[in-house]
Amino acid sequence: MTATLDVDLAKMLTRERHKIHLIGVAGSGMSGLAALLLELGHEVRGSDKVSTQETGRLQRLGLNFRGEHRAEHARDVELIIFSSAIKIDNPVLACARETGKPIARRAEALAAIMSCKRGILIAGMHGKTTTSAMAAHVLREGGLHPSHYVGAEIPILGSNAHWDARGDYFVAEGDESDGTIKCFHPEHTLLLNIEEEHLDFYVDLAAIEVVFAQLIVQTGDKIFYSADDVNTARTCRSCARGISYGFSEKADYHVADVELKDSTSTFRVYRGDEELGEAVLNVPGEHNVHNAVGVIALAAELGIPFQKIASSLRKFEHARRRFEIKYASERFLLVDDYAHHPTEIRATLKTAKATRRKRVLTMFQPHRYSRTKALSKEFGRSFDDADRVVVADVYAASEPRMPGISGKTIADEIVAHGHRGVSYQPRLEWVHRDIGNMIDSGDLVLSLGAGNIHEQLSILAADLVVAEKLKEIVGQAGDVRLYEPLSKHTTLRVGGPAQFWVEPRNETAFAELIRFCRRENLALFVIGRGSNLLVRDGGIPGVVIHPCGGDFDQIDVNGNEITAGVGAKLKEVAYAAKKAGLTGLEWMEGIPGAIGGGLRMNAGAMGAQTFENIMRIRYLDAEGRSHDRMRDELEVHYRNFPLLETNFAVSAVFGGKPATNEEIVRKLAESQEKRRTSQPAAKSAGCIFKNPDSVPAGRLVDELGLKNSRVGQARVSEVHGNFIVNDGGATAAEMLELIDHIKDAARVKRGIELETEVQIVGEP
Ligand code: EPU
Repeated sequence: MTATLDVDLAKMLTRERHKIHLIGVAGSGMSGLAALLLELGHEVRGSDKVSTQETGRLQRLGLNFRGEHRAEHARDVELIIFSSAIKIDNPVLACARETGKPIARRAEALAAIMSCKRGILIAGMHGKTTTSAMAAHVLREGGLHPSHYVGAEIPILGSNAHWDARGDYFVAEGDESDGTIKCFHPEHTLLLNIEEEHLDFYVDLAAIEVVFAQLIVQTGDKIFYSADDVNTARTCRSCARGISYGFSEKADYHVADVELKDSTSTFRVYRGDEELGEAVLNVPGEHNVHNAVGVIALAAELGIPFQKIASSLRKFEHARRRFEIKYASERFLLVDDYAHHPTEIRATLKTAKATRRKRVLTMFQPHRYSRTKALSKEFGRSFDDADRVVVADVYAASEPRMPGISGKTIADEIVAHGHRGVSYQPRLEWVHRDIGNMIDSGDLVLSLGAGNIHEQLSILAADLVVAEKLKEIVGQAGDVRLYEPLSKHTTLRVGGPAQFWVEPRNETAFAELIRFCRRENLALFVIGRGSNLLVRDGGIPGVVIHPCGGDFDQIDVNGNEITAGVGAKLKEVAYAAKKAGLTGLEWMEGIPGAIGGGLRMNAGAMGAQTFENIMRIRYLDAEGRSHDRMRDELEVHYRNFPLLETNFAVSAVFGGKPATNEEIVRKLAESQEKRRTSQPAAKSAGCIFKNPDSVPAGRLVDELGLKNSRVGQARVSEVHGNFIVNDGGATAAEMLELIDHIKDAARVKRGIELETEVQIVGEP
């Protein structure tokens, strides 16, 4: 798509005032241009299908923003500028063409503005944003009042673009992705690197080099170029106005004694044989040292004294999304980076590795189908410095889908390269969970990509803040995990994750957790051994407390009384009773749950139920206060103990009767035999339905002929009709569908309304 221009764009934009409409104004490049035009005094309008923080900021500066593209936007303006992301059939563009309005591409407008100043173009495949921000910062500190245009938010510069009428220089990031870089005729060019990229636009590397060679010809004065990058050096070497920089000693400006630290780098700078001095760069990574040498060469040649340059570099702060620290604590470091090309990924991972954290966990979102396809092999070789990688699906960036290309393409290449810690997560909104569940004290988590993967890191960061507070409450002895899969903690082996999985080890911590959740308005759910639980696939939001270990697993026998913590298994109580010569508790041997669940459900077997053996219980109320209650103070029903719907059991005292060992052993054996012969050994949640008054649910299901009926991997046991078993990898959705199917059949064929005994919780 070409622009129509029979106007003097430079004059129009810098010496006159006009009504200008920008199509696609929310884009990172277009918003910077809008800022410049506003500062130049134009009446600026812009349309975009999305609004961003940046469009909000521009509106406050005078931008007239429209949330959709309409033909009429072109009518009342004198110039239309459009982004490369805008399609040919855009209504504003179409109307502008029909009515013969002047139309310019973004790069043309920017080049026109630059032509009125002494332009400095920062170009190359990787590091442009950081380097142009660094150059603008150093020139500004050096008192040159540069104007600037950078493709991202730059906190240290105040904005992504700024027009400063006082200064002569204009520092801009040149975008090579669509060939428009040939619009520029800067005074100086800083060329960082040349590599295969944007292969949706360029045929090959040679085609890319042609464009840069033309830029060199169009540059009025000096070409600062990397001596370390083979392609760049080859393209620029013969240029008489070239000034090389890099790590190579042969470079005109070079560095030595580079020392990389967690968030800074120190190095010595030389011009030829002359040592200029030491510099400390306030951003991490060897690649940034390389960028800094380019900026040092540029600034020194513009006459800024080295000491001034060095003091500016010490103060420099990153652009947003460039090794941006999202969260840092003693235990964790979360960093976001824009890297989306294999070379950038390797550089960022190298930087991450150099921080010497325990492990580097990476979430990566490929950017564009065309790049994923063209560079998949290269991507496969780029993650060696990451201990674990979760690959999301491709961020399309306005490209149509490509059959057979997805995030899995890259995950497979990484695996093929021999990496053992890689997985593919097609659901972007689950990526933070996969990484969050792996995280351990000492880890660095990195989000990589030019799309919206950083939002996943932000969610993880927010949850980590809560997780750290929870950890403080449970102390060293306790445990806190993020996004713990509940399929690991239910006997049915089904269920999505718990947002916060917390294991307190004593009553004080449990009570404090209850109070914390109340204060912070966090949902709270308590889970025991998960033997009577069906957790939906979306998991449980909020805090899931699992009281276990420590005081909670304690079993004490005192005369005829057995006191057990809620984390102790019912089976263990049965055997403690046997050891103490007490009868009445043998039935507990056959229940897979813990005391907490047994109380909550008034679990039973062999005709007995939990509360028949209870003397008293201890529980915490919704405010975390403890209470002790005797059995006769408690209201209890078949498979239901209402008090624990809003309170939380801590321990219970069971009463047994003295008996001979023989009698106890016989009863235990009876229970075992009953279980072995009438219940399945496969993964289940015990009985699914409560027994209706008219007929045991198991017999009913049997009579309905539903044994062995299945939905996916969920199947009605052939052994007992009231058990649904997981044949391996069943989902909660499958379980629930099968339950509904049984309920429907019972209702239609027998007029019986079955009620589930198993507790069904969580998000779908
Ligand atoms: N039956 C069938 N077909 C079947 C299953 C059972 O005809 O597929 C018949 C049995 O032959 C028996 C009657 O149904 O005549 C009752 O079955 P069972 O004796 O197995 O007892 P249940 O009522 O199904 C209850 C508890 C179980 C406990 C057993 C053993 C309920 C809902 N279930 O089962 O508890 O283990 O007694 O004492 O009260 C649980 O609550 O999760 C659980 C497993």
